[in-house]
Amino acid sequence: MIVLGIETSCDETAAAIVEDGYKLHSNVVASSMDLHAVYGGVVPEIAARSHIEAIMPVIHQALDDAAMTWNNIDAIAVTYGAGLGGSLLIGVLSARTLAITKRKPLYAINHVEGHVYANFITETALPGYTVPKTQPEFPMLALIVSGGHSQLALFRNHFDYTLLGQTQDDAIGEAFDKVAKIVGLPYPGGPSVGKKALEGDAYTYSLPKAQMKHTSPALVALRQENDIKLPQVSPGTRHAVSYDFSFSGLKTAVLRAAQAAVGADFTLPSYELPQRLSEAQKANIAASFQRVAIETVVDKAILAFEEFTPKTVVIAGGVAASPELRRQLAERLPIPIAYTDPKLCTDNGAMIATLGCFTAQAHRPAADPYTLDIAPNLSM
Ligand code: KG4
Ligand code: ZN
Repeated sequence: MIVLGIETSCDETAAAIVEDGYKLHSNVVASSMDLHAVYGGVVPEIAARSHIEAIMPVIHQALDDAAMTWNNIDAIAVTYGAGLGGSLLIGVLSARTLAITKRKPLYAINHVEGHVYANFITETALPGYTVPKTQPEFPMLALIVSGGHSQLALFRNHFDYTLLGQTQDDAIGEAFDKVAKIVGLPYPGGPSVGKKALEGDAYTYSLPKAQMKHTSPALVALRQENDIKLPQVSPGTRHAVSYDFSFSGLKTAVLRAAQAAVGADFTLPSYELPQRLSEAQKANIAASFQRVAIETVVDKAILAFEEFTPKTVVIAGGVAASPELRRQLAERLPIPIAYTDPKLCTDNGAMIATLGCFTAQAHRPAADPYTLDIAPNLSM
C-alpha cells in the first residue's frame, strides 16, 4: 500500500510518499514561513496564495524524489482539518481533483492525529533523516505540542484513543512564537527562543505554571472504566490530576517580567521592548520561559504515564523538535522515548501519508472525492 500524503493546513505546502505505514520514500515541504516572518506570525491570505503556487510542483517533486509515477500510488491522503480555512481548501481541492482524475481512493486525515503518526515511520533511504528502529506499541501515550495544539492522548490501539486533556487557550508553540516577538527574536519562535535560551539562566525569572482543574467527561469515563486510582505523586503536584494546559497566563507573565526588567510598567508597549532589553536579559527571559513552558507539558506527561502506565510514549508536533523537551522527558520518564527526526515533527506530508496507510489497511471508509469538505475547527 503506497500512499501520497498532502498537507496544507497552515504555512507549509507538503507532499510525501509512504509505503505500508512505515517506509518513507519522499518528503517535500515548501514553506511560506519567510513571507510571514516580517509579520511575526502566519498571515492566512499569504499562506493560501503560496499553497496555490506550490501545491502541484511539491506533489510532482514528491513523485520524482520517490522515483515513482501515478501508477505506483494506491491512494491519496489529505489533511481536511484542523487548520486555516483558505490553506486547507487548496490541499483538499487538489487531492479531490487528483483522486478523480487519477482514479485513486481518497482518505481524509485529521491533522493532529497525523502528527502522532510521524512516529510510525521506521525506514527511509532519504539522506539526513534519523527515525526510530521500531514502531510505538500500544497502549501509547501521545504528547502533541505544536503551534496550534497542546494535547495529551492515550491510544489503546489505532483509531481507539481518549483525549486526556488539552490547552484551554493558547497552544505551547503559539506561546513560544509570542515570547519570541516580545524579546525580538525571529519567527518561528520555538527554534529561536530555544537557541537564545542556551545563553541564559533558566532560573532568573520565576514564572507561573497554570493550575488546571477541569477533567473532560472522556477522562472521567476512562478512569471509571479502568477503575484507575489517582496517581501517587508528590503533594505539590497533586492538583495536576487534570491534564489540561493553559499558556496565556505564562505569556502575560513573560511580558510583565520583560517590562519590569527595563524598569517600565504594563503601559510600555511590547513593540518597544526588543530595543530596550539587553542581550543577557533576552537570553534569561527566553531560558526561564522555555524551562517553565516545557516543564508544564512534561509534568502532565509524567502524571499521565504514572496513571496509565503506557508501553510507549511519543511526542508529536512542531514543539516536539525542541531539544529542551527531549532533554526534560529523557531525564524524568522512566522509559526511553525513540524520538523521530525533527523534520517529521513540524508539519509535513509524511505523517498524513502514514496515517493514510493505516486508515486504508484498517478498511476504514474512504472520502467521497466529489463532496469532501474542509473542517477548520476539527478536534481530536
Ligand atoms: O506542527 P507545526 O509545524 O504546526 C502546527 O500544526 O501548529 O508546529 C509549529 C510550531 C511553532 O509554534 C514553532 O515555534 C514550533 O512548532 N517549533 C518549535 C521548534 N520547531 C518548531 N518549538 C520548539 N523548539 C523547536 N525546535
Ligand atoms: Zn501541525
